[in-house]
Amino acid sequence: GTATLTIDDHFTIAPVNDRLFGSFVEHLGRCVYTGIYEPGHPTADENGFRQDVIDLVKELGATAIRYPGGNFVSGYRWEDGVGPKESRPRRLDLAWHSTETNEFGLHEMAKWLEKAGGNELMEAVNLGTRGTQEALDLLEYANVPGGTALSDQRRANGAEQPFNIRMWCLGNEMDGTWQLGHKEADDYGKLVAMTALGMRQLDPDVELVACGSSNHYMQSFGTWEETVLQHAYEYIDFLSCHSYYHIDNGDMASFLASGEDMNSFIKEVGAMIDTVKAKLKSDHEVHISFDEWNVWYSEKEDTNPHGIDNWPVAPRLLEEIYPVSGAVVFGDLLIALLKNADRVRSASLAQLVNVIAPIMTEPSGPAWRQTTFYPFAETARLAKGGTVLDPILQCDTYSTQRYGEVPLVDSVAIRRADGSVAVFAVNRSQEQAIDLTVTSGAGTEWTSVSAQTLHDDDLEARNTLDDQNRVTLHDNTTVAMAPDGVHVTLPPVSWTALHIR
Ligand code: AHR
Repeated sequence: GTATLTIDDHFTIAPVNDRLFGSFVEHLGRCVYTGIYEPGHPTADENGFRQDVIDLVKELGATAIRYPGGNFVSGYRWEDGVGPKESRPRRLDLAWHSTETNEFGLHEMAKWLEKAGGNELMEAVNLGTRGTQEALDLLEYANVPGGTALSDQRRANGAEQPFNIRMWCLGNEMDGTWQLGHKEADDYGKLVAMTALGMRQLDPDVELVACGSSNHYMQSFGTWEETVLQHAYEYIDFLSCHSYYHIDNGDMASFLASGEDMNSFIKEVGAMIDTVKAKLKSDHEVHISFDEWNVWYSEKEDTNPHGIDNWPVAPRLLEEIYPVSGAVVFGDLLIALLKNADRVRSASLAQLVNVIAPIMTEPSGPAWRQTTFYPFAETARLAKGGTVLDPILQCDTYSTQRYGEVPLVDSVAIRRADGSVAVFAVNRSQEQAIDLTVTSGAGTEWTSVSAQTLHDDDLEARNTLDDQNRVTLHDNTTVAMAPDGVHVTLPPVSWTALHIR
């Protein structure tokens, strides 16, 4: 098959916000403990931070980090995680049926982010078992320079300077019945309005994220968004979307089209934001924070430990090992996020280490890159600082059980700050290679091109502890410059990044 992407530099969607390459660290399984934090590990620094993991996080190019949950935050008392480590309480974590030792908390996270390259902290407050006052307390503790009980407590705990946290998530997945403190949309909307108003009184510069739907297929999808927005539109800056994709009954064709679902999810939530904005005759803008996204196969299984006497510390949970087909879908999800960069101003890959993550570790052992690491790192490297273009894609379609007729190719183009162009493209066909031609409608002179492709003839190929580099990016040697533009062959089920200068 063939496909053509026609780029005109004049047609743009939006600048690429750095926050699109955010990720997520939850107190869940081994994301924190033996993930980013493992005192005694051969590479650990004086804080107990694994340097091998920090090196990979830098290579990944992850930006803002959402913390500390997730479902975990809905039962979390932030004060448990500050002050002298010896006196921090061991607590039950009901979300993941684990013991939280609280050895790692806000101060450790802030310090880790500094060491990981100065990444932004996106802090979530507990609106499950707690409310407005506790959110205000945490904000005072974090952002007030000093001179009050809580800000002075922070200083006494070793952080003379405020943490200056800009982005705050007002709870997590509050529409989900699995969520501790789950709420009806009406109750949650009122709580968001009240909490947001209070937080802004304390610090007018905060950027606030209200929970949207936990996924596109929630029964309450739509009603939830509209109700929450009606109560809180003027007081928030972002509404969240969460979505995880998996293969259903072996239906690879539909799975490979998951980017279509993410795209329509974003469009629909955008339409709801616009509707409420119009009804309220508001000038205020609300954007989307896609603050949990990934491929996650065993989403529906309850892998939690069980038993009143069984609350392990940092058990192995959600340690998904991604086949190359999952990484191709993952690359397509990044394309969908970029194509919607006008709406989506923040996104968090869930999660960063060990838990449905691009980086895996073994306690006292190595850290390595999953298949999904590669599309993320390459997209971040080429797209950061650029502008998303609005090219025309012409290609054939194929039929899927789940989404009907969908394009065989998905693609997005970025104009980089240095004037060069990056193109990301996915071939969703399981049978045919596709010859992609990238042409410049505006007649721009291109002189050189390089291409990296993620593909394996074995769709099940994965990177494991014993075979850490089984799947990596490869130079795509079919790429060539011709009078009509750039030509490249996209193998079946593959993800490709082109850099055209
Ligand atoms: O990322 C794993 C979990 O998925 C999060 O804790 C929760 O918010 C979502 O359901």
